[in-house]
Amino acid sequence: MMETITQGPVLRERYGQVRRLTVNICQGLETEDFVVQPAPDVSPPKWHLGHTTWFFETFVLKPHCADYQLFSKDFDYVFNSYYETLGRRVVRTERGNLSRPTVQEIFRYRDYVDERLYQLLDLASADLLTEISPVIELGINHEQQHQELLWTDIKYILGNNALFPRFVNPQHPSTTFRNPDDDFLQIDRGNYEIGHIGSAFCWDNERNRHTVYLERFEISTTLVTNKGYREFIDSGGYSDFRHWHSDGWAWVKAQQIQAPLYWHYWEGDWLNYTFDGLRPIDPQEPVCHVSYYEAYAYASWIGLRLPTEFEWEVAAPEMHWGQRWEWTGSAYLPYPGYVKPAGALGEYNGKFMVNQQILRGASTYTSPGHSRITYRNFFQPQARWQFSGIRTARS
Ligand SMILES: [Fe+2]
Repeated sequence: MMETITQGPVLRERYGQVRRLTVNICQGLETEDFVVQPAPDVSPPKWHLGHTTWFFETFVLKPHCADYQLFSKDFDYVFNSYYETLGRRVVRTERGNLSRPTVQEIFRYRDYVDERLYQLLDLASADLLTEISPVIELGINHEQQHQELLWTDIKYILGNNALFPRFVNPQHPSTTFRNPDDDFLQIDRGNYEIGHIGSAFCWDNERNRHTVYLERFEISTTLVTNKGYREFIDSGGYSDFRHWHSDGWAWVKAQQIQAPLYWHYWEGDWLNYTFDGLRPIDPQEPVCHVSYYEAYAYASWIGLRLPTEFEWEVAAPEMHWGQRWEWTGSAYLPYPGYVKPAGALGEYNGKFMVNQQILRGASTYTSPGHSRITYRNFFQPQARWQFSGIRTARS
């Protein structure tokens, strides 16, 4: 299914780099910050640290080390995320109740699993290395997804603290991006090939590569800015039902939504919570932390629409992307010929293919090199704690 790094030392190095980066993302957190869960979607940082470790313990060490001793039998229960195949688990909404295991214990767990995994790689025969490399590669990509989730969850934890604390961390990527001038790219109608090709790593949901017919369309080469989105707010976009889906309108009403997540109206103007604390809105920055409902409503208000995921993929080589995850008008569905892998890992992507929208691209907090033009991210339409933004299109 995927080309893997079968050379032990190279895989060891790559594994170590990713594991260290995860820990480094947490630099600057106080112990109390590791524990809280201010919303059901947000996992405490300590849970991410444990869960990503559990993944390697469960899928690499347990099946492939004959004499492997679990660090703790309780961790199977505490750090299983959603794998029904693997039995009972702490439900997602109760992750914030886990004052135990302690943060220190979880760091010891990481060290323990890393040590065993290095031993396994050092001693593995060529055949065993070939067998375990794809699973380790999967675990590395899984951990990279959790690295971005750590950023989003840390932002939510601190951004929902009444003191709006700063998060000082040397790992912050540069966010001084400025949108170039807006332009529309024209793509002719025709048949296009969609989906992953080649033997490099991809997720199962990026296959099979298949042909899609597209009508002629135009797509913006840039993302919607805070300035543009502010015009939508100022013109009453949040109080005009005509721009919204029925579900979106119900959500706006029930949640009393008036602006993107982290925007706060203060003494006559909007402020934005960033990792630097509350700051004035930067008009040139791409708007961030909007839901699919909001992305759709904005596009409707301005007389445009969201691109489909196929349009996005076809146009991507000629667009600026990578600053925000971009909502598309496409539902998360399997590609033709998609088959869920057997066993627990078959639960990774396939079972979420209902009631979610596709996002394409990457954000500034996506692990370097982790995304590609065929990458399919997905969230429920009301989710907005991710670094999600808007690109428009027209027919
Ligand atoms: Fe996970």
